[in-house]
Amino acid sequence: MSNAHIPESEWFSYRDGLLSCEQVPLDSIADEVNTPAFVYSGRAIDDAYRSIDEALQFAPHLIAYAVKANGNLSLLARLASQGCGADIVSLGEMQRALKAGFSPDHIVFSGVGKRREEIAAAAEAGIRAIHVENVQELDVVESVAKEVGRPLPIGLRVNPDVDAKTHPYIATGLRESKFGLAIPVAEELVPRIVQSPHLELEAVACHIGSQLTSPAPLRESIEILGSFAQLCLERGAKLRAIDIGGGWPMHYGQEVDPYPPAKVFGEAIREGLETAGMLRPDIEIITEPGRAIVGDAGVLLTRVLYTKTQGDRRFVIVDAAMTELIRPALYGAYHAIMPIDEPASDAVLAPVDVVGPVCESGDFVAKDRPLPPVKPGDLLAIRGAGAYGREMQSMYNARPLPPEVLVDGMRSRVIRERSGPEALWQGEILA
Ligand code: LLP
Repeated sequence: MSNAHIPESEWFSYRDGLLSCEQVPLDSIADEVNTPAFVYSGRAIDDAYRSIDEALQFAPHLIAYAVKANGNLSLLARLASQGCGADIVSLGEMQRALKAGFSPDHIVFSGVGKRREEIAAAAEAGIRAIHVENVQELDVVESVAKEVGRPLPIGLRVNPDVDAKTHPYIATGLRESKFGLAIPVAEELVPRIVQSPHLELEAVACHIGSQLTSPAPLRESIEILGSFAQLCLERGAKLRAIDIGGGWPMHYGQEVDPYPPAKVFGEAIREGLETAGMLRPDIEIITEPGRAIVGDAGVLLTRVLYTKTQGDRRFVIVDAAMTELIRPALYGAYHAIMPIDEPASDAVLAPVDVVGPVCESGDFVAKDRPLPPVKPGDLLAIRGAGAYGREMQSMYNARPLPPEVLVDGMRSRVIRERSGPEALWQGEILA
């Protein structure tokens, strides 16, 4: 289709008039598991992982997938089996990553507020590095190390004060943000860490934000991070890695020009490291992509319940809601919407608000979105829902958690069932 509002991709395209994930028509998945449901293309995930891997071929590297983007066990296991690592931000994510088969040596622990018991569990599991971003946190890590009786590998996450030029809610590398250590503070910590028998400074890290649509801020942050790494080496640290964070972008469908491909970001990373003198065979690059690996691999399949016109607005009421995909409500995020029945090439598009059943005016998928005519019973695919969809889900309005389906070629498998009523009151005690 040439319609810019209904973008097809290699993994989601019309076949015989029906939108399909790889070779499986999405209406057959709706018949099987009902709606709303998340559907993922396995090959899209493999392909995205491979393109980042290829972009970093110039140096030893570890792709530590950001589990927060989508922690479904089958997707994690799939990535782990390809040699991927994991970036976690909680004990729960560590438990998921270990259950899915990631090697502890491939797991890094980020996060601005790790509890002592989470740090102790990470030490116990023997993960690759705990990324410290607070002086008080360093004290806790050191005291846990004393308790376990062996030095703990850590990374220092710095805040390079670089403008990622992204949505303010997903920018993390500015001085005013809560993330990372200001470089002068981090510098002061280095001698203490190097001298401590309980700590091993194994990495420097930063993450300036998500959806970096141009590689320039990434390169800038890497130069700053690289100079900090030099300083650590000069002060006696035995650095093994430089962790440049996540932020590799994905397309949501409204972009006028496509973002540069992974290889252009890889080139910017190489240049940044080279400028900082940190392109070395003994230093591994770690990167923590989340959405770029799973985002465009997933759709949220939903059915139109009703339509109505109110005032001058036309509403399409669907059975998916902010409970499954909160991004539009939270960030005003754009997600492309594609009818499962291929619209006629001359279909007239009219702007509608696509809204969910939840009792909030903020419960919308799209506003003023030009769509071909739809009627109750029609199926729609909300694109770009593979990342930060299920992970940010809630059971508000006592809605069950939707199923997840993984497609590989002609095969589809349910990788999470829709939750039953017992999940609605699990853990509650009727007093
Ligand atoms: N590394 C760290 C330390 C992070 O904080 C994040 C994301 C990532 C990696 C992965 O970022 P990605 O490559 O996926 O952009 N809920 C928001 C995104 C919040 C991201 C938080 N940190 C959204 O739906 O856009």
